[in-house]
Amino acid sequence: MVHRLMVCTTCASTWENGKKIGISGGEILFQELTGLYQSWGDRSNFDICAIACMSACSHACVVTFASPAKPSYVFGDLPSDAERVGDTAAAILQCAEIYRDRPNGLMAWKERPEPLRNGVIARIPPL
Ligand code: FES
Repeated sequence: MVHRLMVCTTCASTWENGKKIGISGGEILFQELTGLYQSWGDRSNFDICAIACMSACSHACVVTFASPAKPSYVFGDLPSDAERVGDTAAAILQCAEIYRDRPNGLMAWKERPEPLRNGVIARIPPL
């Protein structure tokens, strides 16, 4: 089954006169995730991609897990500062493993790693 981790790379951007300045928090998180992803166990049925925005901008940083026959999870308020981005990325991939290995994709609050326990923005049923 195909699974996808979508990472908003516009989240936590700094803007000046309508122009984006520097590297966004979302880009930093995406870079950290892709680095960890290279050494992740079974990548054959879980890919990762950058998304410009998922319309949850007030909850930066935002990622989504999706799969055709599973509910999609949108997580927000994920830290991307230098001190915490490594822990955030590791927690996202740990949660992704649970999502991938669970036939119905459902993940209880207590089994999700911090900081993905309280940051659920939406759980969208599959088609
Ligand atoms: S900027 Fe990340 S969800 Fe809109």
